[in-house]
Amino acid sequence: MKNINIVKGPKNASVIIQGCMRMPDLSKEDAAKVISTAYESGINFFDHATCYGNDGMAETRFGEALPLTGIKREDIYIQSKCGLRFDRNEFDWTKENILTSVDESLKRLNTDYLDTLLLHRPDVLFDPEEVADAFNILEKNGKVRFFGISNLVPMQIELLKKYVRQPLVINQVQLSLEQSQLIDQALYMNNKTTEFSINRDGHALDYCRLNDITIQAWSPLQIGMFGGTFIDNPDYPKLNETLKKFADREGVTKSAIAIAWILRHPAKMQAVIGTMNPAHIKDACEAANVNLSHHDWYEIYLSAGKYLP
Ligand SMILES: NC(=O)c1ccc[n+]([C@@H]2O[C@H](COP(=O)([O-])OP(=O)(O)OC[C@H]3O[C@@H](n4cnc5c(N)ncnc54)[C@H](OP(=O)(O)O)[C@@H]3O)[C@@H](O)[C@H]2O)c1
Repeated sequence: MKNINIVKGPKNASVIIQGCMRMPDLSKEDAAKVISTAYESGINFFDHATCYGNDGMAETRFGEALPLTGIKREDIYIQSKCGLRFDRNEFDWTKENILTSVDESLKRLNTDYLDTLLLHRPDVLFDPEEVADAFNILEKNGKVRFFGISNLVPMQIELLKKYVRQPLVINQVQLSLEQSQLIDQALYMNNKTTEFSINRDGHALDYCRLNDITIQAWSPLQIGMFGGTFIDNPDYPKLNETLKKFADREGVTKSAIAIAWILRHPAKMQAVIGTMNPAHIKDACEAANVNLSHHDWYEIYLSAGKYLP
């Protein structure tokens, strides 16, 4: 596995992160198998959120399962996110909710601290001074080591940065060959003949690079949010043909090539995978050993339905 040093954040973090959104339905033994397989494949970074499963069930399962693996808490990074209150049908970045959510996450995860806390999708009513207060308390009492955000546009990050003292080291956003708007808009700049040119995120990718914020690409194999995967999907024949060509060349699977395409970007991103299938976890981790050339990257991108303007 290849590791990266997140600027002003965790060091030696694996470029592939095991997302735990799909963990709630697993038994604790199966969850332990997922954690062990990921760890043995080189993953040392696990992603959670308070909203994964009813009453934070993903965190609960993880907290029950980790002791079964023999993996020491200090040998892994545990990240959680707060702010999405689907139970109340609102997003909530109030100080009270941030502090309560972290306490609940720590309890469920059976740990004293989070390595990283991300504010999940923006609460449009957020008061940056309240967020700053909450972060100061969490840092002071040792409950959170590093802070970041998820799905935020640059101006929202700037607003937070005016008040928050701690560096925001991560922005977790959606990116895959199928959901590549983060990249498309730059290529088709100012082109009114295609919707690929629409700037949907305020140039989040360039902004994060300029500000040393590591991008974590969520759902690297998904179509949309709930559309299933494009791997082996008959609706994506050209993409699958190209992924297969490179998979055969590199002796890995198509999923590894699709993830390697993300890791090839010079922004030095991490990819957050979500499968709970141990064989698929191992396959995905092979991505870290694949070296795609400049030309390979374009060939794969274009096979996902893009073209050069
Ligand atoms: N910040 C946010 O707003 C946000 C939002 C959503 C998700 N996330 C994070 O991102 C993580 C990943 O999300 P995700 O699960 O949607 O992403 P994903 O890893 O892109 O998608 C998983 C899908 O790909 C399939 N798959 C994986 N390997 C495969 C293979 N070798 N062959 C065929 N199919 C394969 C899986 O099927 P199998 O189950 O059969 O392997 C599953 O359907 C989550 O766990 C969460 O941590 C963050």
